Amino acid sequence: MRTSGNTILITGGATGIGFALAERLDKMGNTVIICGRRQNKLDEAKRKVPGLHPIRCDISNRFERVHLFKRISLSYRSLNILINNAGIQRAISFRNGDRELDNAEDEIETNLKAQIHLSALFIPLLAGQSESAMINVSSGLGFVPLARFPVYCATKAAIHSFTMSLRHQLKGTSIKVFELIPPIVHDTELKGKPIEKADWTLSSAEVAEAAVRGLENDQYEIPVGPTKRWLASSKADLDRAFLEINQ
Ligand SMILES: NC(=O)c1ccc[n+]([C@@H]2O[C@H](COP(=O)([O-])OP(=O)(O)OC[C@H]3O[C@@H](n4cnc5c(N)ncnc54)[C@H](OP(=O)(O)O)[C@@H]3O)[C@@H](O)[C@H]2O)c1
Repeated sequence: MRTSGNTILITGGATGIGFALAERLDKMGNTVIICGRRQNKLDEAKRKVPGLHPIRCDISNRFERVHLFKRISLSYRSLNILINNAGIQRAISFRNGDRELDNAEDEIETNLKAQIHLSALFIPLLAGQSESAMINVSSGLGFVPLARFPVYCATKAAIHSFTMSLRHQLKGTSIKVFELIPPIVHDTELKGKPIEKADWTLSSAEVAEAAVRGLENDQYEIPVGPTKRWLASSKADLDRAFLEINQ
């Protein structure tokens, strides 16, 4: 897949991994549209990278998703890459029965239903371009769940499965379907604020760099850093990793 001269939409592109991708892809000569809920974060991203095209949109709202698609298909008809990156993560205890279930529903809507719906909306537009791509951002935690975030991990496992099916269904079209599988990233807002840097964490810029390399090499599954080991693991190794990260 070429990595310049594209028109790209990155959901959740104002912060974290999405912003690192936006900054990198803008620098490489792409037109980059970003969306998110918070106008101040979109403005901040635009201040840092003036070439970006911000659009305020809450992708957890079905009508806003349709509106986003209509707006883009009118104003950016050359759109040829969709990066389904926006996501949220909630610690949810099921020991409390359904008391925290509203959080779970938000996560399912944002991390899974929105990605599926946006994929469906944009596929005809992408299929009309000579070369196009969709990049779904899952997580290493979709392969080895961290039990504090049970629904988050389940949505990421579902994104892995959905992406495999989509890649198979879209064979023979112009759309290449990628999955970016980041490890724990220390400088994003996923956990509210950046977390401490450790041997097993990476920066969002490192993840963006791996994504660009994967895109240009048509590497359809892009595990980054420590998640490479998990993808090559046996079931027994994955079970051991589950015990290790949940002790
Ligand atoms: N950080 C990690 O350790 C890690 C590891 C593996 C995978 N990931 C995945 O990487 C992706 C990016 O996360 P990140 O770590 O970069 O965290 P982040 O900095 O919090 O980025 C998430 C972005 O998504 C946007 N967003 C959330 N809900 C949205 C909604 N309903 N509508 C529109 N935009 C929305 C947020 O902006 P607003 O709040 O302004 O809407 C934010 O800009 C996520 O899918 C995450 O699951 C992260």
